[in-house]
Amino acid sequence: MKAVRTIAELREHIQELKSSSDKKTVGLVPTMGYLHQGHASLIRAAKEKSDIVVVSIFVNPIQFGPGEDFETYPRDEQRDLAAAEGAGADLVFLPSVPVMYPKPTKTKIAVSDVTSGLCGASRPGHFDGVTTVVSKLFNIVQPDYAFFGMKDAQQVAVIQQMVFDLNINVQIIPCPIIREEDGLALSSRNVYLSQEERSQALVLSRSLRETKDALEQGRIRTAGQARDLLVSTISESKVAVIDYVEVVSFPELTSLENEARIMEQDESVLMALAVKFGKTRLIDNCLIQLK
Ligand code: PAJ
Repeated sequence: MKAVRTIAELREHIQELKSSSDKKTVGLVPTMGYLHQGHASLIRAAKEKSDIVVVSIFVNPIQFGPGEDFETYPRDEQRDLAAAEGAGADLVFLPSVPVMYPKPTKTKIAVSDVTSGLCGASRPGHFDGVTTVVSKLFNIVQPDYAFFGMKDAQQVAVIQQMVFDLNINVQIIPCPIIREEDGLALSSRNVYLSQEERSQALVLSRSLRETKDALEQGRIRTAGQARDLLVSTISESKVAVIDYVEVVSFPELTSLENEARIMEQDESVLMALAVKFGKTRLIDNCLIQLK
């Protein structure tokens, strides 16, 4: 595995790998580092599907709002390199901020509609930062496939919309959420949690699991009921502060909330939540296909 810091080196190595053998397809796994088993699962999926696996590690300043955790976002380059290699990466791209943004960018990619709710509402400008950096990474790496976790389901919907609208020649591969054994979705931000907050945070996966069961067993049948059950379960934790709890269509992310109608067969429904425990904002979700 090679680690490179400049765009020129990265392009050179991709070219080299492509021409040195019959290796042809390139899979990209964009990350912000502090890699965990969720990231590793994306790298393994990339390894399965593509000949050359590129992992990018870049804490992208333009997707953080004022007062968010850009400066304190956890970083550990040595551990990340070992984790990327262990999962099967061929090349790791570790650009500095000046490499990605030699001058303040005057071009932004902004996707509308799918960015307006959920995390887009709580974090204004966040998805413009994500789509701008991801389109830069697509242009730099020119991958055949790019792997994204459903942990950030809205991010998947937004990137898919961007790729569709701009005819970007890359296939987006969504990958399942990886959880701890007790249900907590893996996240680089979990290190911020105290022991007490971490145990309280289990209410998130429990609320999603219980609501999914209730929907699948027909005990509840509307988006409004699903939302109420999620909120009441999360509220069992005295320290949980809800940012949002939404039940929306996927991948359109349009609200089903006001419609007290019974959800239809084969409808793709995303239950998505963002909840604060102390200073740490966690997100989790569950996508269900109603039968
Ligand atoms: P980051 O939060 O580092 O996540 C990188 C990728 O790992 C994303 O596609 C995310 O959905 C996925 N991921 C995180 N936790 C996961 C889990 N528990 N199970 C499965 N996949 C998981 O998302 C970003 O970085 C950035 O916004 C980025 C796309 C790199 C643009 O800067």
